This record gives sequence, structure tokens and C-alpha cells, in this order.
Amino acid sequence: MKILVVGGGGREHAIIKKIKENKTVEKIYALPGNGGMKDDCECVPICATDIDAIVAFAVANAIDYAVVAPDDPLVLGLVNALEKVGIPAFGPRAEAAIIEGSKVFSKNLMKKYGIPTARYEVFTDLAPALAYLETAPIPTVIKADGLALGKGVIIAMTREEAKSAVRSMMEEHLFGKSGERVVIEEFLTGPEISVLAFTDGRTLKPMVSSMDHKRAHDGDTGLNTGGMGTVAPNPYYTPEVARRCMEEIFLPTIHAMNAEGRTFRGCLYFGLMLTADGPKVIEYNCRFGDPETQVVLPLLRSDLLTIMMATTNGTLDMCDVTFADGACACVIMASEGYPEKYEKGYEITIAPEVLPYVYVAGAKLDGDILRTNGGRVLGVTAEAPTLKEALTLAYSRVGQVHFANQFYRHDIGERALKAGR
Ligand code: AMP
Ligand code: GLY
Repeated sequence: MKILVVGGGGREHAIIKKIKENKTVEKIYALPGNGGMKDDCECVPICATDIDAIVAFAVANAIDYAVVAPDDPLVLGLVNALEKVGIPAFGPRAEAAIIEGSKVFSKNLMKKYGIPTARYEVFTDLAPALAYLETAPIPTVIKADGLALGKGVIIAMTREEAKSAVRSMMEEHLFGKSGERVVIEEFLTGPEISVLAFTDGRTLKPMVSSMDHKRAHDGDTGLNTGGMGTVAPNPYYTPEVARRCMEEIFLPTIHAMNAEGRTFRGCLYFGLMLTADGPKVIEYNCRFGDPETQVVLPLLRSDLLTIMMATTNGTLDMCDVTFADGACACVIMASEGYPEKYEKGYEITIAPEVLPYVYVAGAKLDGDILRTNGGRVLGVTAEAPTLKEALTLAYSRVGQVHFANQFYRHDIGERALKAGR
């Protein structure tokens, strides 16, 4: 089979390496991929949001199955467009991807179907939003309605901060159209848990849980990033929490989407917070998380491509989705300065024995030399029977990857270890 994977980050690299394990796969193209993937697939310089060019490429190259990994092409309707030309694709159609594409949609969905989430108000005009903030409980959380490259959420610790966040979205249009509507919601506290789940709209099979580390620096300090490391499983996700999530959140979400005529197929990402009142949804993503995927897929013992195709065909109930009992850790190595200004173009060297455990995100080939080309450069992973062993191994592998101006967090997984299971 000829497979096309849309996207170009560490998540896509992890998906590609896993898909490669299927013996029927003869060729994988990544659009656009990145220079660090050259041993695993052929990278084609087509932008992940160029729907027409991707469809034309898929047709011209007789692609058997496409995997759409990032949020924006899903929200733009790439899966619909591929289906129209007869190419089956992994991921939700646009009408279901809206669960991530619009926070107003997802909040209203949860309210309508009684799915636990933070209390909220929606505003389409600046003046009522500012008036509401005069008396809203502080801290409060301001969210741009649409996609905002993961930056559309502001936790405001003071009333002034909240007002300036709303102004930056609604008056200064910091996130363009995405900020035309804002959600102002209750600030929740508790440990966060990420759960990715395969679904064909009828059956839902959760993957192993994981924990992200969003802040740039040790001790959860510094700016929010796309994620500086992950561990799986998440110790807070006990069997009892898992049971409640399935009953109160996962299945109700699938049913709600069906009832709305927006059947969700693909990978649904539940960003959860374990509050004193039980698990609540912080956000939905319509896709695999990055860097959650880099710790979840290595633990998958079933065939990824078979599962993906079953979500498209509606046969997930007959599909084996089994995970290893051990743990996996991923440490992101980034360019100094990220998530703000950073330099690029430094040579990357990776010891051959750790290469299978490295998922490359921001790198490009310059002849035969791999050079840094992004904020998050790559993720180094390790699987082991326990989280402690996985972390030790992952950090020892980090020592075998070199590039100038690098930084990484030294405390990935420490919170999970302290939570102590
Ligand atoms: P998101 O972009 O929706 O993933 O939000 C980014 C981060 O903001 C989440 O991972 C949480 O840590 C935090 N967050 C979002 N919503 C809330 C909330 N209602 N209460 C507390 N923290 C939140
Ligand atoms: N790691 C969070 C995300 O993929 O949105």
C-alpha cells in the first residue's frame, strides 16, 4: 500500500515509524515532513494546508490511504476533499473537526449534553465581555474561539490581565478571525491528563493515558510551549478515573457528535483536568497530540495502520487495540529562546544507536547534514518497565544527541513519579 501522511512534526514522525511496521506498506510520503524523516519516508514539499495540492498529489500517486495529522487541514476539510476523489483518510471530516476548530462549538456541545467542563460565557462583542469581567471570579480563563497555534488560551490572574487579554483578541485581533468570539471560563485546578482515543463513531477505544509538560523551564516555570516532554501512562488516570471518564465524558461525546449529525472518526484527544468534583474536559482536539503521540504510539502493541483504517471503515469493534504494560518518556530538545526568538541552522548529530528513539520535528537537510530549523527540534524517547527506568534511559539518550544552542527540561516525569504509582 501507498500511504500519505500530512504534517511535518515529531508527532508525524512517530506515526510514520509506527505505520512502517505494517508489512503491506510499500511507500510512505510525508507532506511536507522534515529532514529528520529521510530514513523513514519520502518528504514532498507541499504545505499541510494546501488542500488542492495535497489532493492532486494523492491522486497522481495513487495513494491508498491518507493520514491527516494536524488540526488545520482537518478543520479546513482535507478528509472531505480526499473522500470526494475516492481516497480514504484517517481523521474527522470538517463538520466533526469543529470540536477543536471552535471552542464556542465544543463548550456549547458539552453544555447541551451534560458533559462535565468549566462554566463559561461566550462573547461576540468587546463591551459586554469587559463588563462581565468587572465581577467575574478571578483567576479566569480567556479563550479565542478558533485555532490560534496553541496560543489562544490566557490564564488571567488579575482583572486587568483578563481585560487586556480580551482586548488583544477582540480589539487588536491578535489571533485574527479566531478571536472574534471569546469564551471566558471558570479557572479549574487539579492534575491534567491527556487521553487519546480511536473512534469510528460507534466504538471508542482509548489509548494509554499521558501527561504533557507545557511550560518551557524546570519546575513548570517560564512560558507556555507546544509541550516540552511527556510521559505515559499518567499516574492520576487510575482505573476508577478511567471508568468515570468513559461513562461521563468519552461515550457521551461520541453520542453527542452523532446526535448533531457530526459523527467523529479518527483520533479524539481529551484534555482533562481531575478536579475535586471529578474529571472535567479542558479541551478537545480532533487529532493526535504532540508530543503525547511520541510516548503513546511506542507502547502500542497492535498494528496502527489496521486500527486507523478500521476507524474509517466503521469496524473498530473488531480491531485489537492493545498497549504494553510499561512506561514511555519523551524529552523535547529545543532551540535556546523557544518559544520566543531562537536561532536556526545548527548541525544536529544523533548517535546511530539512539536514532530509532528520536522523533524529529524542527530540522532540515542541508546536503547530508541535518540542521536545526525550529523551536522544538526533536523528541528523545525511551520505553521501559517502569517510568523511572524510562526517564533514566531517555535522559541518557538525550546525552547522545548534540546541537548548539540546545535546551531541554531536566524534570520531565518528576511530577508523575511523585504522584507515585
Ligand atoms: P488549551 O490550549 O485549551 O490546551 O489550554 C492550555 C492550557 O491552559 C491547558 O492545558 C490548561 O493547563 C490551561 N487551562 C485551559 N483551560 C483552563 C481552565 N478552565 N482552568 C484552568 N486551566 C485551564
Ligand atoms: N500537546 C497538546 C496538543 O497537541 O495540543
